[in-house]
Amino acid sequence: MTIKTSLSIRAQENLQGSNIMLEGVIKANANKFDLEANPNGMVNLGVAENQLMTEELRTIMRTVDTADPKLFGYGESPSGSKHLRELFADNIFNRYFNPQTLVRAEDIVLAAGCSAIVDMFTFCVCDPNDGILITTPFYGGFITDITAKSKGKVVPVHLGDMSPFDMGHIQLMQNALEKAKLEGTTIRALVLSNPHNPLGRNYSSEVLIEFLKFANKNKIHVLYDEIYALSVFDHALTGKAKEEQCVSHPFISVLSIPNLEQYCDLELIHVAYGMSKDFCLNGFRCGVLLSPWNKELVEAMRSISVFTWMASTTEAMVIKLLSDPKAIDTFTKTNQQRLAESYTYAVDLLREHKISYIPAQAGHFLWIDLRTYIPSSFVSAASAGDRAAEYLLWRNMLDEGVYVNLGEAFSESKVGFFRLSFSVPLPQLKIGMERMIKACQKTVSFVPV
Ligand SMILES: Cc1ncc(COP(=O)(O)O)c(C=O)c1O
Repeated sequence: MTIKTSLSIRAQENLQGSNIMLEGVIKANANKFDLEANPNGMVNLGVAENQLMTEELRTIMRTVDTADPKLFGYGESPSGSKHLRELFADNIFNRYFNPQTLVRAEDIVLAAGCSAIVDMFTFCVCDPNDGILITTPFYGGFITDITAKSKGKVVPVHLGDMSPFDMGHIQLMQNALEKAKLEGTTIRALVLSNPHNPLGRNYSSEVLIEFLKFANKNKIHVLYDEIYALSVFDHALTGKAKEEQCVSHPFISVLSIPNLEQYCDLELIHVAYGMSKDFCLNGFRCGVLLSPWNKELVEAMRSISVFTWMASTTEAMVIKLLSDPKAIDTFTKTNQQRLAESYTYAVDLLREHKISYIPAQAGHFLWIDLRTYIPSSFVSAASAGDRAAEYLLWRNMLDEGVYVNLGEAFSESKVGFFRLSFSVPLPQLKIGMERMIKACQKTVSFVPV
């Protein structure tokens, strides 16, 4: 690409390289699948969007008068009205996250999406080129959130064959932090998602505590992204899907750990949340930062929130949804039940086709291993880290009419892993997975000319 020299250096930086995840999303959105209107369209099993609660949401949202003139003006505050922040505090955090200290509206900053929250957090804790540690694989959007505007640097921690859910990997984080320091990068924070995206599992309290101790020892912030907190569904599984769960931990919010101050300076502990996942409202753009013990960070985030002010109509609709605790209970229980049903369908089909996966207990997706479909002539290069086979699989899937997200988008170091989102209506999931399997079968027999 020719660099446009009239642009700032930071803008030019954003034009370099390619965003493979975005490429897939654009393709999927250009020709959306619809069972009746566009059955040959692209089935999107790549984006973490939950389409299982659409009817319930339509019923609730229809009752909001979005043409109310009160919503035509600026809202009460760029970082969220007091009323909505109170609803998040009382009806989400205090009700479901079991915090040891009650969450208050003043601990909360709202913005147009959790992505905006991560960007603002980066802006406030990092100077340009300061680093944020994240273990791989991780939610690919963090790269844009951290780098594009606030110019932080993602320092990925590759775990090899170690699991991010085992204690052992904390030492690898320490090594990465020290290596970064030697190379001139100051690490300012650790970011993690719990439940984990893309692995769909919860951390144990022991590992969550190790993160706190690590952050405290190195005097860095730790942001727990808990955006999938209410999308834990393993209690609703039965049969084989239940049996293969092995050791499962319930979702434990960092806020619920007793005596947090024993492990970490409280000022360093923060939580991110949003409406995109547990409430299936990706398009609403509503994200939350909760920082109960760092008033300075909350104020600093507020000072830049005018750029990410939620629309008044969105605020009104979120207020409607979060105002009735009983309705939230019913909504989340139904959602979890449906996630369990779709998950079961997906893993049954994967097992039938002998595709390995990491059993998930939360979230909208499964981490699947398609290495057995790498054509023989690509195997040794793929083992050495060459992505050609992963792209081949991915492009064949796109040609078959299904978008599944590839491991590279999650900074996975091993070639051949994919993230499959199952939170779509079953007929769509069935068609999408059949297309994916067909593409895999086509790929494995590929012989380069
Ligand atoms: C872990 C995690 N954090 C943040 C986001 C972004 O959320 P939002 O749509 O609120 O920007 C996502 C979306 O996939 C996610 O998976």
